[in-house]
Amino acid sequence: MTMRDSLRHAFELATEMVDLERRAPLREHRQPEELLAELDLTLCGEGQPMPALLDSLRQLYRETPRIASSRFFNQLFGGRDPVATLAEILTVVANNPMYTYKAGGAQVLVEREVLRHMASKAGFEGGDGMFSPGGSLSNLAALVVARNEALEGAREDGLGAGRFRAYTSREGHYSLRRAMGILGLGRNNLCMVPTDEGGRMDAVALRREIETDLSAGVRPVMINATAGTTQLGAFDPLPEIAEVASEHGIWMHVDAAYGGSVLLSPRHRRLLDGCELADSLTWDAHKIMGVPLTCSTLLMRRPGLLAKHLDESAGYLFQGDDDEFNPGVRSLQCGRRNDALKLWAAWRFHGDRGYAHRIDRLFALAASAADRIEADPDLRLFRHPESLNICFQVTGCSASEICERLEREGRLLVGYARLQGENWIRLVCVNGDLDEAGLDIFFGEVKAVAAALAG
Ligand SMILES: Cc1ncc(COP(=O)(O)O)c(C=O)c1O
Repeated sequence: MTMRDSLRHAFELATEMVDLERRAPLREHRQPEELLAELDLTLCGEGQPMPALLDSLRQLYRETPRIASSRFFNQLFGGRDPVATLAEILTVVANNPMYTYKAGGAQVLVEREVLRHMASKAGFEGGDGMFSPGGSLSNLAALVVARNEALEGAREDGLGAGRFRAYTSREGHYSLRRAMGILGLGRNNLCMVPTDEGGRMDAVALRREIETDLSAGVRPVMINATAGTTQLGAFDPLPEIAEVASEHGIWMHVDAAYGGSVLLSPRHRRLLDGCELADSLTWDAHKIMGVPLTCSTLLMRRPGLLAKHLDESAGYLFQGDDDEFNPGVRSLQCGRRNDALKLWAAWRFHGDRGYAHRIDRLFALAASAADRIEADPDLRLFRHPESLNICFQVTGCSASEICERLEREGRLLVGYARLQGENWIRLVCVNGDLDEAGLDIFFGEVKAVAAALAG
């Protein structure tokens, strides 16, 4: 098959997928055993002729969750930016690896421009950064740098003796604990600082924990503040946390994987005030910005530290060109796909202003969803949302059962949060195509399922 044939088939299949998504936004729920019995997925000695393979792909996609559809509220991303999708298709066809200028060429320059623009939005003028395959790995890379900066010799000689601690809030993302385990700092040495009712880190408690640790000879490695928590979309008080970090000379990271995009809205940017005081910041464009997975960045206030802690000399790869144009020296990865082009193309198309509009519209929708809940005697709002996550219950009905039944009956996909010992349905308003009519459908389905469960 030629590449032209391949592109023609891909276009036909992708168009079918998008049409199907519009006609049937959710597929019928199937158990894995059922699917395994129905789909022939075995790899074997004989190749499959192209028409049969196309049928297999078509069948597979019919059975795949349609996460870009209007009925998907289950994760912190939703929808699909058409311009970013176009650029992503070109990226796949071009297939440039992004370790060197020699192999990435103009794409490396695109990546630099995107990182420069994002760093300046975060208040890290003149800093640097890297792309990574997700917020979890961006957070991991931040912890690598923070650890090596805190513990001299750790990169060359290992950790040695001593007890180390990092700090995040009880609402912080689990990737931080995983990173502590991966980096030999110990998962149990991640201090989970209490939060206020709205899920924001208590900076007084943070200071207390650090002072207790210091007096016991424990060495703080990093404070992670979260800008946009996974469950509540809460923003930690960055200026207060920065004060504690600077007083004790501790690396401050902002996990803005979710909330980083709010920097683009002049109206809501104040939620991230103080992020410019941090040392590093994770920002995922595959969440609120609607860029297809994966598209995450780690931004550094001071340039040079990623290279200092991640660089390896490899004469077979880094040949010629200034390392400034060889992003591979500032990366966790060797071969790395180009995640920058889709973000760059979407950003060129929408501009900062287009994104500000999108974010303001989503905030307004989230507030409207919260108002609907407050006005409805059958619904109970956890609290008015700080950003795009609205947690609520249907009185007298289990949130987890509602979510499970919504999925089983092919109505919509939504998850639940665990807050103050109870489950709460978590509506996430991140899909750029969501509107009031979409909220009508959402609440209609939730209430219909709750009524059926109650009956
Ligand atoms: C606050 C926060 N940090 C990090 C992550 C991890 O991001 P990713 O899924 O891109 O690895 C998430 C994911 O939802 C998140 O909500």
